[in-house]
Amino acid sequence: MTDDLLTTERLGDVLILTLNRPSALNALNPPLMLAIEAFGRAMLEDPARVLVIRGAGRHFCAGADLKAKASDASLVQRRRNAQLGGRMLRAIIDIPQVTIAAVQGAALGGGLCIPTACDFRIAADTAIGGYPEVNLGMNLMWQSVGLCTRLVGAARAKRMIMLGERFDAQTLVNWGLWDEAVPEDQLMERALALAKTYAEQPPIAVQMIKQTINQISGALDQAILHMDADQNLLTGSSQDRALAIQGFLASKPTEFTGD
Ligand code: COA
Repeated sequence: MTDDLLTTERLGDVLILTLNRPSALNALNPPLMLAIEAFGRAMLEDPARVLVIRGAGRHFCAGADLKAKASDASLVQRRRNAQLGGRMLRAIIDIPQVTIAAVQGAALGGGLCIPTACDFRIAADTAIGGYPEVNLGMNLMWQSVGLCTRLVGAARAKRMIMLGERFDAQTLVNWGLWDEAVPEDQLMERALALAKTYAEQPPIAVQMIKQTINQISGALDQAILHMDADQNLLTGSSQDRALAIQGFLASKPTEFTGD
């Protein structure tokens, strides 16, 4: 499959999906998120045994598109739109096949949520990862707080999500967020070697185990985190958020007031 925003390449039992919006650092605007959601659902019909997700260009993904136009839709529609990221991540989590993220450059915000929704994460040793949402006056949404917390533990998740720091690859390996870090020029080679190992496993057993572990570890996610989109509408209506976006566009720090 090839279109503007996503491209795929098939290598035997392994399918490679590339986020293909490199001119915007693969920032996640609604069309790209809708395409990923539809792609994830379509994997139910795909014969591949392993999916590798990567980003085109220098960066895996710079997160939500901060230059996307503010919506003038009704509140009821904006509420549904705010749930798109959660639906996209759910579609990735629900892919029956083994999923591996191969991450280079920056994986920030939603761009880090995608790897955490995969089964395995290989990073270039030069990659950086983090959740800058809080510095933009926003909560981390897309039902991804649980995904991060389960990988790194509550204290580190708080440090990552409440402080919005960016971390180097080795730190995130030590914390369990990346499974491993490899030299950047070996990233795809290593991801594909791992993919081949998983592709050789019995797919029925592997896919059942994946589903069970996902259900055990994420059982409460949908019960609790469905409201994070509503929280985002709240933070999105704050003055702090507006100032933070102005600050991002002008490359200036923001002084938050709590309004
Ligand atoms: N949405 C929209 N545009 C973005 C973006 C995003 N999330 N992240 C970066 N860009 C834009 C930059 O504004 C810049 O645009 P310009 O060329 O018109 O000035 C362009 O992409 C290149 O960014 P630049 O910062 O020069 O690239 P870099 O390679 O030096 O750094 C990042 C890359 C990802 C580390 C850096 O751009 C960054 O920190 N981006 C913000 C990430 C973020 O806060 N995401 C929010 C998630 S809620």
